[in-house]
Amino acid sequence: MLRAIVVLTLPLAAVLSVLAWSSAGTAEPLAPSPIVSASSGSTELSQALHSISGSMSCASQGCHGRLEPLSSKPVFQNESTAWLNRDPHANAYEVLKSDRSKKIAENLNGPGKPAHRDARCLACHAHPEVARLAAEQQAEIWNNEKLADQFDRAAVKGTGVGCESCHTSAGHATSEYLKEHVNWGPTGRTEGTWKSDSNLEMWARAGLAPLTRLEVQADLCASCHVGSPGSAIEPTRDCNHDIMAAGHPRLLYEAATYQLRLPPHWNQKQYPELDGRMASMFVVGQSVAAEHAVGLSAMHAQNASVVWPEFSDMDCFSCHSGLRPSADSWKQKRLFPTMRAAGLAPGTQIACSWTLSMAPELSGRPAMRQKIDAWSKAVSGTRPNAVAATAKSLLSELSEWRTVTAKSAELNQESRRALLRKIAPVAVAALKNGRWDESRHAVMALFWLSRGDPSLGSDGGAALFGPALSALEFSTGSDSPAQFRQGMDEEGLVRLAVWAESLARR
Ligand code: HEC
Ligand code: HEC
Ligand code: HEC
Ligand code: HEC
Repeated sequence: MLRAIVVLTLPLAAVLSVLAWSSAGTAEPLAPSPIVSASSGSTELSQALHSISGSMSCASQGCHGRLEPLSSKPVFQNESTAWLNRDPHANAYEVLKSDRSKKIAENLNGPGKPAHRDARCLACHAHPEVARLAAEQQAEIWNNEKLADQFDRAAVKGTGVGCESCHTSAGHATSEYLKEHVNWGPTGRTEGTWKSDSNLEMWARAGLAPLTRLEVQADLCASCHVGSPGSAIEPTRDCNHDIMAAGHPRLLYEAATYQLRLPPHWNQKQYPELDGRMASMFVVGQSVAAEHAVGLSAMHAQNASVVWPEFSDMDCFSCHSGLRPSADSWKQKRLFPTMRAAGLAPGTQIACSWTLSMAPELSGRPAMRQKIDAWSKAVSGTRPNAVAATAKSLLSELSEWRTVTAKSAELNQESRRALLRKIAPVAVAALKNGRWDESRHAVMALFWLSRGDPSLGSDGGAALFGPALSALEFSTGSDSPAQFRQGMDEEGLVRLAVWAESLARR
């Protein structure tokens, strides 16, 4: 079974590389960061920063720092090596010192307030505890070199988004966990004890997140890749329109695609039905990502310190699509009629549908459509209270969906086919006449739910999905689809729609 997905996936390598939003490419191997201990000052702050063990503390050879994986074991023990050499997260803090980040920070703050000292950036690009404390001390950090230096050293020690950023809840007694974890040790471990109740109990005591569970994993990734209003232990994470307009890439998280693009440092053999797991990852990820996006919109509407409306709650390309002679406009011909039916005038900015366009069909909750429409209308409107109220009602629906959907860790071939049939009509509509976000989403939904389907043919669907994704690409040097449905070749989308129509009939 595992072989099957590998074989299926390989011809799709090209397809999948297009599923990436930007052309960021693979990370260069990184030099190990120096292990610096935080300042030995006696302030509460330096103690808190000191409690960050740092990714390198997991990296000894007997623990997670082997050079080669123990491929037959449940835990490879080379996680640190894999992360340091291949994982984009190892560079997440350093990237705040890059030229691009310098430019973003200068656009936002003017001179003298660099990105790696900006709590807004640290929220997603550093250890959560560094970020949380930095948010409390933001003004001081910008005015106090010594304090700023302490933060820098703690962030470097956490080495960007490291083991603790993902595996342990922020602010937890990491060192206590480590002591137990190390005593218990890798040597006594057998397959049986690894996932034993007492081990899982220890995980829970330490606050170690059970990341093998899809909804926990998606919630973790979405908290940075979509954003999050924050909690007692997590910083507010908000890559808003100010930050994007200053030069930050748009965040376009989709759980299955992003997991696939991460070099796995866990043993995939524990998931013999990988096609089914990835399909479930896609669906669970939809519910979780939608909760984060809608939750952020409510925060924007309710938080007095946020300028409202916040453009990142909206469809980027409802504003950024270029002016053109009106006679050529695909929107006038194909989009405005549906907008009019929904009570929206031509030219209205639209709520972002990236995470929501298929939610009612995927969840089997058709009534959700009304709640989405009410929320969308509020986001395009002028009353923040309406956004808060409609978001609340939509969020409770989404959280029920997550609870139900999280129960199926794998979708078998039969369930995948049933879901494909359910989403086919809305996917066809999106591919033929939808906005860019909706079309792109339809391609991903069809892709993840059809893995292993015999009707894809011997190439695993490469000939079907490749051209559809090409039709969604941006022209070189552009970050928006100025050519979308505008004199471009839509053939790839149309052919995928024809295939989806055949699914609906079977
Ligand atoms: C809500 C979380 C979040 C916030 C806030 C945030 N970022 Fe990011 N940033 C990300 C994620 C996630 C990516 C990777 C995006 C992708 O490729 O999908 C990223 C990518 C980047 C990149 C591109 C990296 C590359 O390898 O090309 C730069 C530069 C960057 N961020 C700088 C900043 C700066 C500067 C700030 C503060 C002004 C900031 N970020 C705030 C989450 C965030
Ligand atoms: C970006 C988040 C992220 C970072 C950073 C990260 N991990 Fe993981 N790790 C995960 C996820 C997600 C899984 C589980 C994936 C699955 O099973 O689907 C995992 C699985 C593991 C496992 C296997 C656990 C099991 O039960 O199968 C080990 C061990 C591990 N990670 C160690 C580390 C170490 C050590 C580091 C730092 C060098 C690290 N991880 C950094 C996300 C992360
Ligand atoms: C604490 C915040 C945080 C968490 C949690 C997180 N990421 Fe990231 N992720 C980032 C940042 C920041 C970057 C950009 C790093 C860079 O380019 O230097 C990134 C980059 C990536 C990239 C590379 C994107 C590209 O365009 O090359 C992938 C893939 C990715 N993350 C997947 C995941 C997955 C899957 C999870 C959950 C298991 C996850 N991330 C959890 C912050 C996070
Ligand atoms: C309600 C309309 C609206 C929406 C929706 C919107 N923007 Fe903007 N955006 C603007 C305006 C207005 C400007 C400033 C343009 C100017 O000064 O010329 C801007 C500027 C930008 C810029 C800088 C452009 C430049 O020339 O440097 C970027 C990048 C950007 N937005 C990205 C996005 C992204 C990504 C999204 C979706 C998440 C988005 N915008 C959604 C209205 C919008």
